[in-house]
Amino acid sequence: MRGQAAFIPLGATSTAFNGRGVHTRPSSCLPLPSLPVPAFPYVPSVITAVAAKPRADSSPPKKLSKVEGLKVSSNQLRFPLAEQLQNDEIFITENAVQIMKFHGSYQQDDRDKRASGQQKKYQFMLRLKMPAGEFPAALYQALDDISTKYGNNTLRATTRCAWQIHGVLKSDLKPVFSAIMNAGGSCIGACGDLSRNVMCTPAPLTSELYKNARFVSAMLGELFAPQTGAFSEIWLDGEKAASLEFWKKDLDMNSVQEIMRFDNGNGVVYNGKEEPIYGETYLPRKFKIGVTVPGDNSIDIYTQDIGIVCIPDAAGKVVGYNIIVGGGMGRTHRKATTFARTGDHLGYVPADKLWEACKAIVAAQRDHGNRSVRANARMKYLVDKLGIDSFRTLVETYFGEPFESFREIQPWRYMDWLGWHEQGDGNLFLGLFIENGRIKDEADFKLRTALRRIIDAYEFDMVVSPNQNIILKNITPNQKNGIEAILKEHNVRTADEYLINKRLSMACPAMPLCGLAITEAERVMPDMVARMDTLFKKNGLDVPVTIRMTGCPNGCARPYMAELGLVGSGQKSYQLWLGGCPHQTRLAWPYLDRVKDVDLEGTLTPVLTMYQQKSTTGEAFGDFCHRMGKSDIATFAEHFNSAPIQVNGAPPTLTYEAPVKARTARKKSTAKPRPRLTVSDEIMERLKNIAALRDMSASRVADEIISAYLSGVEDEDLLGDEMVI
Ligand code: HEM
Ligand code: SF4
Repeated sequence: MRGQAAFIPLGATSTAFNGRGVHTRPSSCLPLPSLPVPAFPYVPSVITAVAAKPRADSSPPKKLSKVEGLKVSSNQLRFPLAEQLQNDEIFITENAVQIMKFHGSYQQDDRDKRASGQQKKYQFMLRLKMPAGEFPAALYQALDDISTKYGNNTLRATTRCAWQIHGVLKSDLKPVFSAIMNAGGSCIGACGDLSRNVMCTPAPLTSELYKNARFVSAMLGELFAPQTGAFSEIWLDGEKAASLEFWKKDLDMNSVQEIMRFDNGNGVVYNGKEEPIYGETYLPRKFKIGVTVPGDNSIDIYTQDIGIVCIPDAAGKVVGYNIIVGGGMGRTHRKATTFARTGDHLGYVPADKLWEACKAIVAAQRDHGNRSVRANARMKYLVDKLGIDSFRTLVETYFGEPFESFREIQPWRYMDWLGWHEQGDGNLFLGLFIENGRIKDEADFKLRTALRRIIDAYEFDMVVSPNQNIILKNITPNQKNGIEAILKEHNVRTADEYLINKRLSMACPAMPLCGLAITEAERVMPDMVARMDTLFKKNGLDVPVTIRMTGCPNGCARPYMAELGLVGSGQKSYQLWLGGCPHQTRLAWPYLDRVKDVDLEGTLTPVLTMYQQKSTTGEAFGDFCHRMGKSDIATFAEHFNSAPIQVNGAPPTLTYEAPVKARTARKKSTAKPRPRLTVSDEIMERLKNIAALRDMSASRVADEIISAYLSGVEDEDLLGDEMVI
């Protein structure tokens, strides 16, 4: 069950309640059970060298998307990237860009610096792979140095527990890649059509349950790592990196290879190929895995392609795993065939079956995912098309046995793990809030300097959390004061000193570097959170609200799970999403399509008034919107006659009136007149009829009809693959 019920403690956690019990924080004292480390869950005893079964899809072959052809001709991710890196241009070609993604890098340009007639200022973003978000101090120091020498003097923590470096020039790519690899890091497979960084609950608790979640993340990170030699050939001239990737230190690498190549005879692996699981064409699309423990939804588990929940027995030993499949955020505006989706419960497997179960799911998507239309290539579309029962049956043909039924678990809670906590081994960890994941120095706020001083002095291992924050771990109690002093000296506040809504918020990077951004996100989010906070308070509402914003519908900051989602839909305008759950277990729904930034307060005021008037005690904003539904809220807003709002005073008086045309008090638009289309009288009449029936404006109906038509005729070649990176 996807619960939003009352708080259920996660092992030994406590809450800092705020009226609705959403913002759970672990207590500073965690009496954690001490349990034996589980045996390495599964090592096949015999490796059979049976040829992989022919793949099951008997439908007539469809035209494959352009990227599929590029993958085949790339010779396992080598061509044309290797050649492109040799020339003197400051960019690589579009074909090489597609292959470069598998190496963990996107080509970007600074859109603020674009000038007509001039070449774009090309640069590269590098994303690290770091299962469970863990990384050692030495890697942080290396990244910080790289950012100074080759990057834009910032580091970016991402929503999938990884670091990104922005602003690297093509001529510096090789030293930067090799510096990362030689410091025990890696960008291999951080982007591209394969299993990317495996997310995990970031809490470095030392209980067996949490340790197991981290172990599973590292194992899956390695099990689905690309095997091609292209990376070391291109970035290290074929040499081995000076340092082993840090997450491998806890893995038995021979066993991982055996598990990866183990052939159960059901067509899961390709025998004798460089890539035993991926073959030559890898996956149809990016693939995302997240791991957590019952109750701890720090990873947005329903947004993952595969979400794994470690299930302990009464003594705390992990005995199996619940598996959720088919989540995903990315969509395209006005293209109804694309949508955000929450995952379905696939079932449960005993601990020793987890690796084969995951291989079977990946193989099902590999063979049956849509390789013709990239916009529909994520596994969520396959799960949606088949339905969870048929999808399960399909996976079972690869797995070779039935899944057991999903185990009942406690309700999910969103956890951010910020502040000071005991780890369970006598040491402490500190969750630091990083606004929108950006590590930088700005005026008196010297976050980057403070962090570097702390890491140089204490050499802590760290974790990037799924919410773009960082956690310093293995801190001895006597180091606490020193750390706090450094933070204070550099004006870095602790999580408790931030507005709760800031702490819950996330924005994607968007402008100026993301080529897909339609409008701003990260750069305007601090102001947006402050505006929303003021607005809520003006309406007599002092409640925590999860606000997420992205510059386009790809959904990198998972806005469709937020209580208030802002998704860029035009210049300085956003699609508004309402109704997500504070614990991220339910999709929000689109309320309005293109709300101008300046109109947000006016548009939301009726909604907040309704919430203020009609919510039940302690009901979260997202839960309220979900309960009311879009149509009731829209009707209320339609009839709402905005009364003067008293700042810091009593809530506004609600006025109901007979339906009037003016929906809300909106500022007059100063925008230029929009282009017009001429239609015949007959079409106009028909549009008006439909508009009247659907209670919409005729322009809106026309817009939807034209969009639907255009979506039908736009194929991949027209749109270009860069739209669905
Ligand atoms: C800090 C930088 C970024 C982070 C943390 C990030 C993370 C994410 C996440 C979490 C998603 C949601 C995945 C889902 O559908 O479940 C996503 C989707 C997506 N991102 Fe990003 N991303 C970043 C930058 C970019 C950039 C720079 C691009 C392209 C230039 C990009 C392109 C996309 C696309 C196309 C999708 C939708 C994918 C799909 O539905 O198949 N992202 N990203
Ligand atoms: S959501 Fe869109 S704008 Fe934001 S980083 Fe992702 S692709 Fe770029």
